[in-house]
Amino acid sequence: MSKPWAIRLANESDLVDIMQIEHECFPSDAWSADGMYDELTGAEKFYIVATIDEKLVGYAGLNKQPIVHQSDIQTIAVSPNLRGKGLGRELMEHLLAEAKRANCPEVFLEVRADNPVARKLYETLGFEQIDIRKRYYQPDDVDAIVMRAALGTAGNAEPLVLGIESSCDETGVGIVRGNTLLANVISSSMEQHARFGGVVPEVAARAHLEALLPTLHEALAKAKVSLDEIDAVAVANGPGLAGALMVGVGAAKSLAVSLNKPIYAVNHLVGHVGVDILERGELETPTIALLVSGGHTSLLLVRNLLDDVELLGETIDDAAGEAFDKVARVLGLQYPGGPEIDKAAADGDPNAIRFPRGLMLPKDMEKNRYNFSFSGLKTAVARHVEVLNTKGEEVPIADVAASFREAVVDVLVSKAVNACVDHNVPRLLLGGGVIANRRLRKVAQQRCDENGIELRIPALSLCTDNGAMIAAIGAQLVMAGRTPSGLTFGADSTLPVTTVQTL
Ligand code: KG4
Ligand code: ZN
Repeated sequence: MSKPWAIRLANESDLVDIMQIEHECFPSDAWSADGMYDELTGAEKFYIVATIDEKLVGYAGLNKQPIVHQSDIQTIAVSPNLRGKGLGRELMEHLLAEAKRANCPEVFLEVRADNPVARKLYETLGFEQIDIRKRYYQPDDVDAIVMRAALGTAGNAEPLVLGIESSCDETGVGIVRGNTLLANVISSSMEQHARFGGVVPEVAARAHLEALLPTLHEALAKAKVSLDEIDAVAVANGPGLAGALMVGVGAAKSLAVSLNKPIYAVNHLVGHVGVDILERGELETPTIALLVSGGHTSLLLVRNLLDDVELLGETIDDAAGEAFDKVARVLGLQYPGGPEIDKAAADGDPNAIRFPRGLMLPKDMEKNRYNFSFSGLKTAVARHVEVLNTKGEEVPIADVAASFREAVVDVLVSKAVNACVDHNVPRLLLGGGVIANRRLRKVAQQRCDENGIELRIPALSLCTDNGAMIAAIGAQLVMAGRTPSGLTFGADSTLPVTTVQTL
């Protein structure tokens, strides 16, 4: 038998009819018409009405708070003459379906302690009592029973996620739909740091502030989506430069609040690994990942991207990119040093000078097997140049650059391949700006081939710091049904890589 009522979305013109039922159903504590008007028109509200032949016979409303993954049943009322016919249940089912769809599957409600029929209904819909608020309903002096239902996650298969990255000198905004890259826009403040020979944190933070909105708009335009279509916001909250991270975190939180969408705080380093998904559809695990940039040199064992990332080792002093930048300065080359040294090394002899390999001696290979050190190498290059200068001899820049580069590459690749072999993991993923280095790519490929290791190097635009990698991890978290991060997390410059998501 078809039901006598129809259910549709409520609108402002239903206000008078709604208020009539409100007074019928709640004679002693009805809401005011103004209050009800605010409910019907509120952005985060979802109100529906039931009608029979255009006459209003019931209504119900939900308040959605996707940022905290929660929703509240605001009210539900059915005309007295229609009670007991299943309309209340059907209205509730609509609200619960909307809560699920809006990615806020934890639903709360309050019910009068003297309304056992309603309590029974809610129990059959999956609600449990979690609290009592004494004498909550006035003037009747009746307790409120607080109930909660966890509906499971929305299971959004292809969420549209916007990712923000601001951990160093790149302001990145990326947009993905599930595993598909839609936009990856980067604005770099690198030139502003050039005259200082390295990234200046205060300058970077200010540059992020200026670049964020234009970068965001460009990404939306490239992805051909509007802000209100975004399902979730993801942001790198560490590791990185504190002041720089704060800009991205602040921007992401304001976006999430204004759009009323969930936010996911994502580990920057894990982003470098997860970016592989955007090229291959999924990340094969376990994998070893070597991340080398101006800010980090880290060797990771990734068993599961969202749950199980282990830091095997990292630099104990300078990052690999930083070493390139410092040595470039010694050789009178421009910042950033990596590309300059790569160019200068093209005609040089990599075996001309035997520079030291940090933490590669047998004694180091026990305690610091997967750790790196580049400051000794940098000093050795500086001394070598200094000695030639004092002697009044010309510095063979090509040979010094090639020999220095060889030492860095040798250490990076040896330790990464060791990690693969030791852990019996036949996969190596490279990430970070230093991956642009031609010699590094070549040697890594050779040694991986020799050891039966599959080498994966994402496109360079995805290797350097970018927002797409953060969006990619955000999308994985949404698809895995993870709880969003809430709004209390902060920027954490030393965030450990084991924390994939900060709640
Ligand atoms: O990942 P990235 O773009 O930014 C952060 O460090 O956050 O990496 C930049 C670093 C710089 O230190 C730069 O000198 C280095 O990557 N780099 C290179 C090359 N291109 C950039 N290092 C070696 N060889 C290159 N071709
Ligand atoms: Zn990075």
